[in-house]
Amino acid sequence: MKFGIFLALVALVVGLSLAKPKEDNLMEESSGQDLQNMDSRIVGGEVSPKDKYPHQVSLQKFKFLKGWQHFCSGSIIGARKIVTAAHCLRDYNRKWWWTYRIVAGAHNIAQKERTQQIGRFGRVLLHPNYSRSALDNDFAVVYTRKPLELNHYVNITQLPTPGAIQMGNCTASGWGVTNSGRPSVELRYVNMSIVTPMQCKAIYNQISPSVITDSMMCAKGGPNIEGLCFGDSGGPLMCREVQGPVMKGISSWIYDTCGSATYPAVFADVSTARQWIDSV
Ligand SMILES: *[C@@H]1O[C@H](CO)[C@@H](O)[C@H](O)[C@H]1NC(C)=O
Ligand SMILES: *[C@@H]1O[C@H](CO)[C@@H](O)[C@H](O)[C@H]1NC(C)=O
Ligand SMILES: *[C@@H]1O[C@H](CO)[C@@H](O)[C@H](O)[C@H]1NC(C)=O
Ligand SMILES: *[C@@H]1O[C@H](CO)[C@@H](O)[C@H](O)[C@H]1NC(C)=O
Repeated sequence: MKFGIFLALVALVVGLSLAKPKEDNLMEESSGQDLQNMDSRIVGGEVSPKDKYPHQVSLQKFKFLKGWQHFCSGSIIGARKIVTAAHCLRDYNRKWWWTYRIVAGAHNIAQKERTQQIGRFGRVLLHPNYSRSALDNDFAVVYTRKPLELNHYVNITQLPTPGAIQMGNCTASGWGVTNSGRPSVELRYVNMSIVTPMQCKAIYNQISPSVITDSMMCAKGGPNIEGLCFGDSGGPLMCREVQGPVMKGISSWIYDTCGSATYPAVFADVSTARQWIDSV
């Protein structure tokens, strides 16, 4: 099967080559500025049903001559509260708040859909222990200036409780630009299964020890190059739990190639930051 490949920004094409492992160099390659510029996107998967991810929002920045550009995803956890990856907003400057927005209730981000609601940026908080170099604690919270109107297309997601049991089947979802150069304007998702922390650490330890921290969790897609890739960082990893779907992870980083069969995609593990998220 042919799958689309999604890039969030044209500049991120460069990230593809940067993502290739250079033996002794992982920290520079995968945890430094280069990796942060890569973000993550989705390869494989399918266009999502319109109302499958009502918590997912597009984070957009206004660019001169280009208008509003999608750069990351986020998830609604309260009428005014969005969670995303800290690396998406690492260079956010509050003076320029009006050049940022979130679009909720969107399926096709190139259209003005009736279901869409715009939220302007209010307070932005990065996790106090977010590490730019180690990508540790890759969590951020954005408050919108006015509450979103919750409905069938705009809704909050459940968060995992600390220490919740990890059941296997999850989906990651996002928008992005295909590697044909054209943006995927429609929200897509891919099935992913959780890789246990022990397995994930064992895989990454072969390259460099302690890359996988306790704030991270890993998941992989199917065998046909499915999974995360550059582009839709900050988006949700939704997993089925006893109480229904919960957002267990936030797309953070990948290594090697998009949808790598060897290296699982890495997410910020929401259960480890639950207290901080609730407290801000
Ligand atoms: C994900 O898995 C479900 C259940 O196995 C399946 O119905 C669906 O087609 C899969 N979606 C993708 C994008 O592979
Ligand atoms: C940040 O790290 C310090 C030191 O490990 C810890 O005491 C603190 O609780 C952490 N903060 C959060 C919000 O997790
Ligand atoms: C929002 O999500 C909750 C939990 O999934 C659901 O019970 C509720 O019906 C949803 N609200 C709307 C308006 O669809
Ligand atoms: C998870 O997905 C795998 C492969 O698609 C399937 O075999 C398994 O039954 C699923 N497990 C659950 C709990 O849905």
